[in-house]
Amino acid sequence: MNDVVSRKPGLTGQIKDRLIQQALERKLKQVEGSTLPAAAHSPKPQSAIPEQHYRFSMHPGYQQLRIINDGAARLGVSSPFFKLHDGTAGAATKIAGKRYINYASYNYLDMSGDAEVAQAAKDAIDRYGTSVSASRLVSGERPIHRELEQELAQLYQVDDAITFVSGHAANVSTIGHLFGPRDLVLHDELIHNSVLQGIQLSGARRLPFAHNDWEAVDVILSQQRRNFERVLIVVEGIYSMDGDYPDLPQFVDVKRRHHAFLMVDEAHSLGVMGKRGYGIREHFGLAGKDVDIWMGTLSKSLAGCGGYIAGETALVEHLKFLAPGFLYSVGMPPSVAASALAALRKMKREPERVGLLQARGLYFLEQAKAAGIDTGTSKGLAVIPAIAGSSLKAAKASAELFRHGINVQPILYPAVPEKAARLRFFVSCQHTESEIARTVELLTTVL
Ligand SMILES: Cc1ncc(COP(=O)(O)O)c(C=O)c1O
Repeated sequence: MNDVVSRKPGLTGQIKDRLIQQALERKLKQVEGSTLPAAAHSPKPQSAIPEQHYRFSMHPGYQQLRIINDGAARLGVSSPFFKLHDGTAGAATKIAGKRYINYASYNYLDMSGDAEVAQAAKDAIDRYGTSVSASRLVSGERPIHRELEQELAQLYQVDDAITFVSGHAANVSTIGHLFGPRDLVLHDELIHNSVLQGIQLSGARRLPFAHNDWEAVDVILSQQRRNFERVLIVVEGIYSMDGDYPDLPQFVDVKRRHHAFLMVDEAHSLGVMGKRGYGIREHFGLAGKDVDIWMGTLSKSLAGCGGYIAGETALVEHLKFLAPGFLYSVGMPPSVAASALAALRKMKREPERVGLLQARGLYFLEQAKAAGIDTGTSKGLAVIPAIAGSSLKAAKASAELFRHGINVQPILYPAVPEKAARLRFFVSCQHTESEIARTVELLTTVL
């Protein structure tokens, strides 16, 4: 089959040729544009090259990591990272044989571990194997890929959707491919790393704006819009560190007035916001076409792995044929697409899961606030931070709670500013009120 594709210069062959041509042209430009120092032609003696330039153990990033880890060990704080879970991690988990109330997983709707969702994955493995073994464009796809994408598109009331093998890759590849050096990307200052990486890859001018400040975007665009070709504004549905959300209708209005594109990352809002869990669009009663790029992940409410982009045909088709993270990467394993689709359908059938998740989140927030805990700007929608005030305090509080049977991740500098170091609680629809009450009680003592 692949032979036929390469012998006949069909659509795939033409695209490949064009891509190779474009890649060569880009490389050529880079070489022409780069000015290698003269020294490169008359190499220095080996001894003059600093060790950190050829030893990973001397890499500044690794050195910084060692300083942090060694310092924590000296202070008697055990590492909160890479804990080994014995089974499914939901509202509860088992670590080293002990049961914990768990607030460190994004299994918001308790779909990972659900028998029906697991069965869908098993059936897909029996039918299609464990891998599609190559890019969908060249090697073909399975009906389950299309079903999932069509159902995601329906959820947003847009033309189509495309799924990538990782949520992070979806953002990097989409922004990296669609925008370029003559464009501007405006993003919330708390935006996820994957968006920042995508902007860097694109070469577009990057401007962060104050958290949720649509008025700042309006002012920037009033002054700057004409200096750029395309302009993209990127926000999240729910911010994963703070648990709050943007006033999306205002962003829609701003982007319309300035002829910009608006992208919403729904990693933490799908399954969490709106009466049925359809996300921030449902919460505000917006139309699908009010936002140009709907992005989300399958790894959280949908119990899978991967990311999606939903929007108009011209966007999705473009990405399907040319976004490097899709074109040059393997298709999603059918079992993952099947489990995400089963979870999505179950979410639609059982909106009470969403209702419970929202009720439990609000309960956590109210209890924590009443106990005097600083929950920042959280709205109680699945993500609730407890600001500790320093990385050391946060790490110690997490270790102390762990000793009492509660698993919660500390968020330390540089992930957040040092003074904003925190414990971050992810609530699931399976947490009970008594578990939450006990957690808040212990939290008050450890903080
Ligand atoms: C806002 C946001 N976007 C994108 C991602 C990346 O998604 P994934 O982990 O599914 O690759 C995450 C991950 O947590 C996220 O929080």
